[in-house]
This record gives sequence, structure tokens and C-alpha cells, in this order.
Amino acid sequence: MDGNGRWAKRKHLPRTEGHTEGEENLARLVRVAVTRNVGWLTVFGFSTENWVRPRTEVRHILGLHKKLFGRVAELNELNVRIQWMGRPFDSPDARTPKYVQRAIRKAIADTAQNTGMVLTVAFDYGSHAEMVHAAQQAAADGPVTQASIESHLYLPELPPVDVMVRTSGELRISNFMLWQSVGAEVYFTDRPWPDFDGHELDAALALVPQP
Ligand code: IPE
Ligand code: MG
Repeated sequence: MDGNGRWAKRKHLPRTEGHTEGEENLARLVRVAVTRNVGWLTVFGFSTENWVRPRTEVRHILGLHKKLFGRVAELNELNVRIQWMGRPFDSPDARTPKYVQRAIRKAIADTAQNTGMVLTVAFDYGSHAEMVHAAQQAAADGPVTQASIESHLYLPELPPVDVMVRTSGELRISNFMLWQSVGAEVYFTDRPWPDFDGHELDAALALVPQP
């Protein structure tokens, strides 16, 4: 969900306002995705590399994730099950504060019964960290194979990515779901994340080959 800072700059607002609007936009987009019968929506909220940002910005983004995982009533109304993926909270490099961990655990538990779309929020996530973790676990189990690595990804239930979206004019995939996106279509848009709307989602979904 890139481009929050640039969105804010264009409007002469502080970067934090861009992040706030980005979180609001995610809430809007989840609603739209449900109407389009999307089965799995996975969003990159915060990366393993993002901790180096200024402390006040990091704190603001942490608060927004607490808010996001607090939207349980909305998620239940939409029959959406929320999930999280990222470095395990007990791993040596993990830095997710306890209050965010609690919000994440509670939201997962309180939406676990929902049978509709699965919304996965990647927080303190990086594809390299995920693949190293999976390879270590696989090696501890026995021979390392494609299947054994797949079974140890953070969320093995996630299906392969059909379409990967990158917002805000960047033409690269920055450490996001590299293993899972081998066969993915890629949709690039100049729009910053806060302006990514239903029309944009439809354009991205149009790239997915129909069975
Ligand atoms: C994405 O917006 C939000 C996070 C990475 C947490 P940015 O903050 O990267 O926005 P730009 O790239 O500066 O516009
Ligand atoms: Mg950015």
C-alpha cells in the first residue's frame, strides 16, 4: 500500500495524514473487494525494513494497525476473516509492541468464524525473512523440498497470488510474497494507495485469467 506520503505531500498535509487516509481506504476497499467476490486479499502494511523510519511515523503507523485490527464489527458484518503474517512475535528480530500483538490476536479470534473473504495483513513482513524461516523449519523436519518449504510459509493456507498490485508508480516488487507470486499477473498503477478505488481494483482483477 505505497504512496501515502506522496499523497499527503501533494495535499500539503503531514505524512501521517497520508497513512491515516491509507487505513481508511483499506476499509473502503475491503468492502468493494467483497462485492467483487475476491476470496483472498493480502495487503502489505509494514515491512521488516520500515522500522528505520522516524519514530513518530512508526508510532503513528502502529496505532493505525491497532485501529485496523479493531474493525471487528465491520469485518463480521462483511463475513470477512482477518489474518496476519509477519515475523513471529517471539523471534529475535521482531519488534511488534504488545498492544499491537493483542489487537492482532483478538481480531483473528473474533473473526475466525467468518466464511467469506480472507483479509491478510502483512505486518513486520518480509519475503526474505519468511523464506529463511520456512527453510529452517523445513530443514529441521527432514529433506528440504518445494512442498516442505511451502508448508512452513507463515500462512500455508494462502493460495498462490493471482494478481499482485503495486501502487504509486513504483515498478518493482519490494520483498513481498516472492515465493507465492511466481505465476502472478502484476498490476502497476500511478495512483497512490489512498486513491486506489474500485475502478483500480477492477482493472487489476481484469488481468486474472478466467478458468
Ligand atoms: C506506504 O506509504 C506506507 C508504508 C510503507 C507504511 P509510504 O509512506 O511509503 O509513502 P511514500 O512512498 O512516501 O509516498
Ligand atoms: Mg513508499
